[in-house]
Amino acid sequence: MPLQEIETNLEYWEKAILGASTFQELERLKADIIGKSGVVTSAFKLLKGASADQKKEFGEKLNRVKSRIDNALAKQRQKLEDYAVSEKLKNEALDITLPVENDHFGGLHIITQSLRRIRDYYSSRGFLVLDGPEIETEFYNFDALNIPKHHPARQSHDTFYLKGHDGMLLRTQTSCVQIRAMQKYGVPLRMVSIGKTYRNDQLDATHSPMFHQIEGLVVDTKPITIGHLKSELRKFLEFFFETDSASLRFRPSFFPFTEPGMEFDCRYTKKDGKLIISSDGDKWIELGGAGMVHPNVFKSCGIEEEVYGFAFGLGLERIIMLKYGITDIRNLYDTDQRWLRYYGTCA
Ligand code: PHE
Repeated sequence: MPLQEIETNLEYWEKAILGASTFQELERLKADIIGKSGVVTSAFKLLKGASADQKKEFGEKLNRVKSRIDNALAKQRQKLEDYAVSEKLKNEALDITLPVENDHFGGLHIITQSLRRIRDYYSSRGFLVLDGPEIETEFYNFDALNIPKHHPARQSHDTFYLKGHDGMLLRTQTSCVQIRAMQKYGVPLRMVSIGKTYRNDQLDATHSPMFHQIEGLVVDTKPITIGHLKSELRKFLEFFFETDSASLRFRPSFFPFTEPGMEFDCRYTKKDGKLIISSDGDKWIELGGAGMVHPNVFKSCGIEEEVYGFAFGLGLERIIMLKYGITDIRNLYDTDQRWLRYYGTCA
């Protein structure tokens, strides 16, 4: 094809390229025009035998034609690609106005349900229901709780420290909220706090690096005794396990922030393979830790007067698992729809 013709055809080719509606059409045009045996390529070949002047003149013109064709091809290819993407998105779009095909609506997770029930219970009994930060300082998680710098209790908590933030950690216990509460509200005080705690434990059927604790604290200038602590815990367990009579026992134990410190167990029986919390039970199951608040803890909160108090702490997952007969803690954090539906989390 003579050069002149090529130049007159240029606009026509550009139009054809910019009007191509498929990638195949585009590829065909490309082959016809600038492919191995395309017209423009053939014209370049013809130049071989031309004089130097002609080569210069026609070569420049042909190059201009080629670059306009290249531009048009690139432009149209982009357009077709964009179109393909938007079509794909359109087809994959979720129409949230469509009617639901099943009756599986979402619901509150069993942990959230229990947590709210417990908060409501305590707030109806005049306790302040408080939250504290999950990222804590060593002061609140350890120092103020009478756990000195090199005390083995620090190691035994397998703490997650925050890299690059000296003295910051993920709280290993909700007991830090005791300190924050006493600093803020002083005495007398009745508070609970339920929230997430973290320990560097391997995930297995009974351990999770994240779990929830329920923390309680009662402080007064009037004498408060272990008897008060025991009755408070008994009432809570009767409420939580929905039983008429729970019976508790204390075993001596050690928590640096209590004196004396103890662990508490509850009587239970097994009926049809299910655990029933009842004072008729013949076995004991361990539920949590408790004690009378250590004087050093009051001191670190700046409380100088003569005060008395008890504190207790227990794992939320643990009592939920006991109540509902759940044997693997991981089920609580998995998202198995059948499991969630069974435990009332999905309707
Ligand atoms: N914080 C303790 C723990 O995580 C539990 C506890 C709370 C013990 C309050 C006594 C008083 O093991």
